[in-house]
Amino acid sequence: MTEKIEELLRRVEEFKPQAAAEIEEFRIRMLGKKGELNALMEEFRTVAPELKRELGQQLNRLKTAATERIAALREQMQNTAEEHAASEEDLTRPGSADELGSRHPISLVKNQIVEVFSRLGYTVADGPEIEDDWHVFSALNFPPEHPARDMQDTFFVEKNPDILLRTHTSSIQVRTMERQKPPIRVICPGRVFRNEAISYRAHCIFHQIEGLYIDEGVSFADMKQSLLYFAKEIFGEEARIRMRPSYFPFTEPSAEVDVSCNLCGGKGCAVCKGTGWLEIMGCGMVDPNVLKANNIDPEIYSGFAFGMGIERIAMLKYGVKDLRLYFENDVRFLHQFDQAL
Ligand code: DAH
Repeated sequence: MTEKIEELLRRVEEFKPQAAAEIEEFRIRMLGKKGELNALMEEFRTVAPELKRELGQQLNRLKTAATERIAALREQMQNTAEEHAASEEDLTRPGSADELGSRHPISLVKNQIVEVFSRLGYTVADGPEIEDDWHVFSALNFPPEHPARDMQDTFFVEKNPDILLRTHTSSIQVRTMERQKPPIRVICPGRVFRNEAISYRAHCIFHQIEGLYIDEGVSFADMKQSLLYFAKEIFGEEARIRMRPSYFPFTEPSAEVDVSCNLCGGKGCAVCKGTGWLEIMGCGMVDPNVLKANNIDPEIYSGFAFGMGIERIAMLKYGVKDLRLYFENDVRFLHQFDQAL
């Protein structure tokens, strides 16, 4: 009998249930009416009186061990069930907060430029990135042998007829003149492509903003005043501009626009290479040939156009010296613009 009691004690200790129902089954088998313990009690009645004391104690120990073990296992099972419910099913628990993203510096600057010109009555116009020769070159008065058409600069998608990635946003000028009669006042942000080796100061993809204003009696002075307003809005009230004669096939006369260096205030520093001026865009009066090519009468209408690189403006505003940073999308770089604008 002692052996039997000891074996049952071992079974109590080793019992490891997977589910609550197993604990109940175990209880019935051990402590139930027809269970192991009652069977032993039956046997106990028949043992010799001198063994009763010892065996009685053993039986009590077994009963206590079984009862306690069952109670402990029940509690443990209950706790794990509660934990489960809390971790997986409590829909009232607060969610984990998502981190807010930030705008890309190119988008920030683009939006700001668009906003400045929209105050002057310009609306945003768009055009395709994959273009034909007419919209990128021919309608803009590029002579057939112009080097910009060369394979060196332009990514061609197809030859004869030429389909290519636009090399400048000036193509949107042509698209707009096709759609719209003067007065025209549009600002055209977009991505452009050139076959350039990638370095800190050049990239094969970059962004430009184009402006076009055509109406009766539009003058060079109107252009200068509009661009001065733009420079002050972007670089601060102190900003001044100067214009240097230049050449573009689609404007006559043409100019490059410099803004006074916003770092040294025009005194001369490393960024402006001691000149006090920073080049920011090209501009000019729309060439009569361009108006004619787009069915606008140059005897009645005149206009001006300008174009600038958004990366260039962003570099000057934020002091970023390596163009490639704008394309790598390293979050450590981008997070620096969280609070900008
Ligand atoms: N399209 C020129 C470029 O990519 C920029 C430009 C210069 C645009 C003069 C214009 C302009 O509209 O009038 O370099």
